[in-house]
Amino acid sequence: MDVAETFASLMSPEGRVDPYPTYERLRAYGPVVQVGPGTYAVTGHAEAAELLRDPHVRVLEGDVRDAVMPDWRNSPALSSIARSMLRTNAPDHGRMRRLAAGAFTPRRIADLREVVAAEADLLIDAMAAASRDGTPVDFMAEFAYPLPLRVICELLGVPAVDRPLFRRWAADLTGVLEPEITEAELAVADAGATELRGYFTELVAARRREPGDDLITALVQAHDAGERLSGEELLSNLVILLVAGFETTTNLLGNGLTVLLAHPQAADALRRYPEHAPAYVDELLRYDSPVQLTTRASGAALVVGGIQLPAGSWIVLLLGAANRDPRRYPHPERFDPWRAQLNPLAFGAGPHYCLGAGLARLEAQIAFVTLLRRLPELAAAGMPRRRDRLTLRGYDNLPVALGALA
Ligand code: HEM
Repeated sequence: MDVAETFASLMSPEGRVDPYPTYERLRAYGPVVQVGPGTYAVTGHAEAAELLRDPHVRVLEGDVRDAVMPDWRNSPALSSIARSMLRTNAPDHGRMRRLAAGAFTPRRIADLREVVAAEADLLIDAMAAASRDGTPVDFMAEFAYPLPLRVICELLGVPAVDRPLFRRWAADLTGVLEPEITEAELAVADAGATELRGYFTELVAARRREPGDDLITALVQAHDAGERLSGEELLSNLVILLVAGFETTTNLLGNGLTVLLAHPQAADALRRYPEHAPAYVDELLRYDSPVQLTTRASGAALVVGGIQLPAGSWIVLLLGAANRDPRRYPHPERFDPWRAQLNPLAFGAGPHYCLGAGLARLEAQIAFVTLLRRLPELAAAGMPRRRDRLTLRGYDNLPVALGALA
């Protein structure tokens, strides 16, 4: 298999289920490697961090997209993502990002801390009730999906009755973050995007009439105060907050719990010393990253990792591979929460560094500590099933046996 075939094999069903052996085959060619005409893949940690921070390296905007998929503007799903901050460069990016970031106030995060803790307890009680006779439960359905869904809806100001709708729309839309999407998946994503945008349009009107203490109100006020955010930008950024903030966190909970259950001594140490939760969560983010890749285009000729990248190159940053770079993390295949200076690239780096990183970390820290404390016998109960996705890496189903409540 040559380098191009090796890279392409990441998109095969086996590559998507377990990309790590393929990352190592790519790494053998070097930290930055040409994998096709004008296309480069990055597996090195230092090189990926450097590129993500380089002002000449830009997210792929509409004109670049035109070359790949000329009618993306007619797709509600693709155009929502493309017009959000995630796919916008300076100067518009900074304007949108500051407005949204202003809504993540310390007080709102402190309120969310209480929401996460209360919701984690409720979900554990519900799981325990459902498996009173010892039947295994699906951790993904009963905990890993509902917890981040509750939090993102709380942050946005979505009423509790509408949460199931959000769960479906988010699932319909996540396909657009993958490197390849089938026509059928795009049709599902477009239908979901249309409904979600319709819903947000109504909610925006409601918050304009009656402001709340939530992110939608904050963004509506930014829009109304001198058009600092256009109507289209407002909707697109609400869509990206749901798409970026929900399933990513779900996958951190599922991937992370699987690793903890496979390392009972480490899990036990966390049970006894919950103050180490931040280091544990960062190592879990490194070890099996919920977001495995992102893409960029070079706006100028660059040299990185000893390789020349001509202007206009398309760059695939394999964050999951960078987080397993042995030059940065000795024995990267070992789960070791005692590593010094973790700084995984799981949330990216540079101007697009994840806006919700603090919130996602908080959710995972509270969730794992609460699960281990209240369920001292928690154990895997059968083979989990991986989702057939490369960018958003997670499980479809994760059976666990709860044992007795503490
Ligand atoms: C951006 C990962 C949770 C909102 C990103 C990026 C990554 C990422 C890798 C950068 C993408 C790029 O550079 O192309 C994750 C992971 C999460 C998580 C692994 C959970 C474990 C969240 C949450 C929210 C959120 C909870 C919101 C509440 C965003 C937004 C951006 C972003 C708005 C775009 C920022 C920008 O373009 O300036 N995330 N994310 N994420 N994330 Fe997250």
